[in-house]
Amino acid sequence: MCGIIGAVGRGDETLDVLLDGLSNLEYRGYDSAGVAVSGGELSVAKRSGELEVLEDALAGKSLPGSVGIGHTRWSTHGPPTDENAHPHMDCTDTVAVVHNGIIENYQSIKEELAAAGHEFESETDTEIVPHLIEAQRADGASFEEAFRHAVGRLEGSYAIAAVLEGSDTVYAARNDSPLVLGVADDATYLGSDVPAFLEFTDRVVYLEDGEVAELSLDGWDVTTLAGESVEKDVRTVDWESEETGKSGYDHYMLKEIHEQPRALRQCLQERVDELSGTVDLGDDIADAVQNAESIQLVACGTSYHAALYAAELFRSQGVPAQAFVASEYVTSPPPHDDDTLVVGVTQSGETADTLSALRDAQRRGVDTLAVTNVVGSTAARECDGVLYIRSGPEIGVAATKTFSAQVLAVNMVAAVMGNGSASHEFVSALRDLPGQVQTVLDETNAREVAERFVDSDAYFFIGRGYDYPVAMEGALKMKEISYKHAEGFPAGELKHGPLALVTANTPVFAVVTGETGSEKTVGNVKEVEARDAPVVAVTDGRTDVERYADEVLEVPETDPRLAPVLANVQLQLVSYHVAKQLGRNIDKPRNLAKSVTVE
Ligand code: F6R
Repeated sequence: MCGIIGAVGRGDETLDVLLDGLSNLEYRGYDSAGVAVSGGELSVAKRSGELEVLEDALAGKSLPGSVGIGHTRWSTHGPPTDENAHPHMDCTDTVAVVHNGIIENYQSIKEELAAAGHEFESETDTEIVPHLIEAQRADGASFEEAFRHAVGRLEGSYAIAAVLEGSDTVYAARNDSPLVLGVADDATYLGSDVPAFLEFTDRVVYLEDGEVAELSLDGWDVTTLAGESVEKDVRTVDWESEETGKSGYDHYMLKEIHEQPRALRQCLQERVDELSGTVDLGDDIADAVQNAESIQLVACGTSYHAALYAAELFRSQGVPAQAFVASEYVTSPPPHDDDTLVVGVTQSGETADTLSALRDAQRRGVDTLAVTNVVGSTAARECDGVLYIRSGPEIGVAATKTFSAQVLAVNMVAAVMGNGSASHEFVSALRDLPGQVQTVLDETNAREVAERFVDSDAYFFIGRGYDYPVAMEGALKMKEISYKHAEGFPAGELKHGPLALVTANTPVFAVVTGETGSEKTVGNVKEVEARDAPVVAVTDGRTDVERYADEVLEVPETDPRLAPVLANVQLQLVSYHVAKQLGRNIDKPRNLAKSVTVE
């Protein structure tokens, strides 16, 4: 949450570059935005509200200077007001700072600075940073020394960037929050994430915790906080900048739902050999998963649903596996043995709860594997192994294509557990899956279903076995983008309490695919029908559930392990159309952010 952009070397275009970068980062937070540009003087503009409020305020204005930073905020300390928007400044209005994360010891530092005469304008933790820099500079320190000193005092998580009036340098540092440099021939960029500057360069340098980056008109440099030089690799990312646009769709979410066939193909590419029936994810992953006697999966939100699915899949291979909500895993770590593997499922690779769980496992000496979408993300760098799901950038806050690719990726892991060989039938099913997703997209009646039930009081989702995580995910998608009450349950649990909530105005979406337990789910559907609740069956036609359903969302028949991907696409579309008809902010639902980098 919170997005940071920086640009040095773009002359008169600096403001436009910053605003562009912020629009590509808005998925990280969108309750206020601001920029600071340093030329001869320091110009700062910031507003509460979405980025367009700031853009309107700046329309027709120019902020002179070639050195700038910007920020889009997801509030942690203090409500979204103009005062709490970043950048924050010192008493002399010569230092501007943007920050992502939470400074845990800010209160004591704030009291110390206030006692020394510093006056604060915001309720944020961030504002202490420009004041710390100011205090050091007043004692004779250079901007660089003052920045290093200020960062050295902070405890907690932060990605921070600072500019100074009259200086041609941006200083930046990180601890537990992502920051990446973009390197071009004529300019240098800084971003919380690559899409911030992808239209200008695809050459990137990932900062590590404890490092300080200096971006100036002469180029860039990375050092430790103590000032020792650090050799950094410049990597090239293979995302296209067009992938971060909406390509004619009304929303990123809809575009990303439609990108699923391609995302799945990319995930499979060069990993699955249909002729030999083998799946190859490389020796490191093969060793890690084949040596694992038990698997613990840690994840949050949608990724947790993929982890629930993976746990079921791995158990079906005879490997004891359990999925944990990452924040609970940290609160109460489960026992492990020497051959336990902890798998972090996280599309961003930056979710603080998941990183914390992975680090906790590493501290206890357990091997870790990241299943992630973002090359070079913190999870990718810190884990012992990494499996990329290769979905391309996902901008919509609601995860869609990354869930499908996570499910596909863990199926490949399961195949590798069995020494890399899968049945020819299963390999063909994997190959056919992207085309079947396309069939669902082409033939879906999800919009009509959404229209029929848009005024419902609440939505319930049930499923059993592999369909249970899909029911959970269907409910999460519905609640986060429609703001309507939605809950997912294991189908068998409905009668143990939730059935009391079911009325004629609470449609129940029954996910009924595959064979195992499906007949029992049909029994649960009858219980619902008998209580007058409308039933929407999401089915591959293997049961007669349609007989009891008011609406049917069909999916093509496939291997029972893969049917949940198809069912989930139908539910993504229903949520999308309900939210659209209700006029919700689909790509940026209220109170949410794409990448949650605080615990
Ligand atoms: C919901 C959603 C979130 C994320 C969760 C974990 O649509 O996107 O629930 O799944 O915040 O994010 P990652 O996968 O980046 O760790």
